[in-house]
Amino acid sequence: MLFARRLILLALSLVLPVAIFAEEPKQDDRLSWFRHARLGIFIHWGIYTVEGIDESWSFFNGYVSYDDYMAQLDGFTADRYKPKDWAKLIEQSGARYAVLTTKHHDGVALWDTQENDLSTVKATPAGRDLVKPFVRALRKRDLRVGLYYSHLDWSHPDYPIQTRTERRYDEDPERWQRFLDFREGQLRELTTQFEPDLLWFDGDWEVGGSDVWKSAALRDSLLTWQPEVILNSRINGHGDYATPEQGLPVTPPEGAWELCMTMNDSWGYQDNDHNYKTPYQIIRIFADVLAGGGNLLLDIGPRADGTIPEEQVAILEKLGRWTSANSEAIYGTTAGIPAGHFYGPTTLSKDQETLYLFLPHQPSGPIVIKGLKNAINRIRIVGNGTKLPHQILGKAYWSQVPGIVYIDVPEAEVDPMMTVIALQLKGPVDLHRD
Ligand code: GLC
Repeated sequence: MLFARRLILLALSLVLPVAIFAEEPKQDDRLSWFRHARLGIFIHWGIYTVEGIDESWSFFNGYVSYDDYMAQLDGFTADRYKPKDWAKLIEQSGARYAVLTTKHHDGVALWDTQENDLSTVKATPAGRDLVKPFVRALRKRDLRVGLYYSHLDWSHPDYPIQTRTERRYDEDPERWQRFLDFREGQLRELTTQFEPDLLWFDGDWEVGGSDVWKSAALRDSLLTWQPEVILNSRINGHGDYATPEQGLPVTPPEGAWELCMTMNDSWGYQDNDHNYKTPYQIIRIFADVLAGGGNLLLDIGPRADGTIPEEQVAILEKLGRWTSANSEAIYGTTAGIPAGHFYGPTTLSKDQETLYLFLPHQPSGPIVIKGLKNAINRIRIVGNGTKLPHQILGKAYWSQVPGIVYIDVPEAEVDPMMTVIALQLKGPVDLHRD
């Protein structure tokens, strides 16, 4: 398919002005699946899980020596790695995509790269390509495939790593070019072998800016190899969507965005980190992300043998129960109404005629909506269909100002995590903003 399409494009480009083909597919077309996906699972997996220390940063920051860090290669077995089980769990959580670290800053590739020998295939007892079966398992379940790749590489001999006393990139341009060629080679492998839907870059902050990293040219190459691929922001301003990390943005970023967040305090598996957010806390954050029109990329960290820690499995299962009960308020919705009308996150159906209210607390009295001009056709609890009566108070017949809507939510009907209420409106949502 792809090949045939490229052939046609090539043939057409010979007869039509080049400018038409210099244009990428419309941004929204490429990003459309991503905008609807809402939940993704981030997977940090690498040799750092052997000792359970920080991914790459532990040697960069001098917590362990580089040699001790790399000695973990010998313990990375992946001998209980079951990508089909991973994919099943990811699907059950309600996520529509997953992003796997194919190479973190330490430079260890999880696939069979031909660019050097530093891979799980050649340098660890795992002895195999771990990306390929992961991609296959996701595709089988119709989950979108994201691959994380670090531009910088603290193991590569041509990379001007700051912890070694080395010349800067501009003092040895040939060497820097060799490194860029290496990066291009690895990315060509990843895009052509696995045809990812998403490339999740990291580590664009070192060395220099877009000119030094040749980010514009890289973007062009990536879109030639894989025309539909979307890129996160960490490619020196040449990405497709914003990537806030850990902190939930108070004002949502413009355009498409995705909050990446750990479940505990670590990206990768750390035996002694039990500081997990509760399922409620995660769902609460997720609801805020939804209300801001973004996606949540929630991180898990499998162990060196490929098993996923029980706490993480439990969180994904609880999240899954909630996303499945409330799916209509999540997928295919857009950002909700501005703050002030309702004390809690909200989303809107595509036609804007259903307003979803996420109740951040168990109500101790009726919930309140202000400034809603629409008549309400019906109100129900999304998770179980219970119909709810409402009351409108304070509406003066001579005034444009709408009355205040009060809805009683019976205690017996609330969701143990977070109740969502659907207001079916007469016409698209219309707010009184004065
Ligand atoms: C930060 C960290 C990196 C982690 C990434 C995930 O950039 O440096 O270790 O993989 O966040 O977003």
